[in-house]
Amino acid sequence: MSEKYLVGIDLGTSGTKTVLFRQDGSVVSSATAEYPMVQPQNGWAEQDPDDWWDAAVSTLNRVLTQSGVNPSEIAGIGISGQMHGLVMLDKDGRPLRSSIIWCDQRTAAECEEITARVGAQRLIEITANPALTGFTAGKILWVRKHQPEIYEKCRHILLPKDYVRYRLTGAYATEVSDASGMQLLDVPKRQWSAEVLEKLEIDPSLLGKVYESCEVTGTVTKDAAEATGLAAGTPVVGGAGDNAAAAVGTGVVADGRAFSTIGTSGVVFAHTDKLSIDPKGRVHTFCCAVPGAWHVMGVTQAAGLSLKWFRDTFCDGERSVAEAMGCDPYVIMTEEASRSPIGANRLFYLPYLMGERTPHLDPDCRGVFFGLSAMHTKRDLIRAVMEGVTYSMNDCLNVLGEMGVRPERLLACGGGGRSAFWRQMLADVMNCPVCTAQSSEGPALGVAILAGAGTGLYSSVKEACDQMIQVNAPQSPNPDSVQAYAKKYEVYRSLYPDMKEAFKRLAN
Ligand code: XUL
Repeated sequence: MSEKYLVGIDLGTSGTKTVLFRQDGSVVSSATAEYPMVQPQNGWAEQDPDDWWDAAVSTLNRVLTQSGVNPSEIAGIGISGQMHGLVMLDKDGRPLRSSIIWCDQRTAAECEEITARVGAQRLIEITANPALTGFTAGKILWVRKHQPEIYEKCRHILLPKDYVRYRLTGAYATEVSDASGMQLLDVPKRQWSAEVLEKLEIDPSLLGKVYESCEVTGTVTKDAAEATGLAAGTPVVGGAGDNAAAAVGTGVVADGRAFSTIGTSGVVFAHTDKLSIDPKGRVHTFCCAVPGAWHVMGVTQAAGLSLKWFRDTFCDGERSVAEAMGCDPYVIMTEEASRSPIGANRLFYLPYLMGERTPHLDPDCRGVFFGLSAMHTKRDLIRAVMEGVTYSMNDCLNVLGEMGVRPERLLACGGGGRSAFWRQMLADVMNCPVCTAQSSEGPALGVAILAGAGTGLYSSVKEACDQMIQVNAPQSPNPDSVQAYAKKYEVYRSLYPDMKEAFKRLAN
């Protein structure tokens, strides 16, 4: 029997990465394409859906050309994506406006409206989350209120990765993990909530069909095959929201398993076979990509984004050095940070560039350097940024702990997870062993695994993970560093409550 291949497309916030895998999970070829995020106002964030499609087309073409693999040998395709973004299409399937994406914070008033219409407790019972500014429902109401002429023409509402699915297959469809972040899904029942849709007066026919993540949702059309180099008829499975996909890609598919990711956002994620909801809504409960199971996760809005912002704003020198050395600027920045001591010489950073979710649920807070002194140098600032992000992710882990979820170890992934220095910081701050999967392809591998399970190459998601994922030896917490960070973390935790009112005044 000839070898089969699988494709994972990961539509991130800074770019799309497409990877062609062998059936055993090893990489044949990969390609990335970047695109901009536009911030028309402080706290707003938008992207052009056609940039996502163009990135999918160019990366698919490149992985296929580089690999020399015959496209008809590709058994299936999975798509992973940034969650929560709103894509509105007209009757001909064309985008009506740019997408309002996950980190956009403009919908505080709409969230109040959602809570009033559905009832705070009922909303949590059905959607497993309180009304949140990042989620899609608030964005739909915002467009309806502020751009009624666009809303009137809207015939289809999709999530970011589901727009790429639509362009590949012609199907208006989604799957349970990403749909959980729209605030329109009945998360316990894994189907659209007729009650929420009715109370919000949203026509259910605007929404795509909901699948489980490993089900086949359609096949590549002739037009898409011509554009991408794929074979017409190749199956496309549901795929997953980026975090649910990363979970599969790191083997976090059973109780007791957890991972953290530092991508644009930061996430601490734990699998759970039983539905579990934080009554205060500080962490999200979503359907996971394993049929019949869920996950709980805390989110730091600006994790990798904080370091990227710092790089782009202050690190031209590091970028030139990195270019000359042929390495990533983050390698140079991390090396600088490692020369500042734990606590960055008494400097703190709050990573609230895009408001914060876990644990504050506050769209109005903003980033802070606290404790700046004339003695500080850039290395202290970089270290403070990395520590602030790590403390914020520790906040996430602590909320999971309050819900009784205490992982024995964390799999680290995302760009930040590639840095041994940052992983050690996670291990020391969280006092928990941190390991990596041998494959660093996280979400792309996760959705390729879903495609393998959905097209019958494997009998289940779990069996596919067992065959395709290997885990490296963990980095253990260093007891002295654990103690030193614990003291700093206490100071960090006291800063937000002290500034909460000032953030409100700033927003007004
Ligand atoms: C999850 C979330 C982010 C985005 C972007 O709730 O908003 O992780 O999916 O990566």
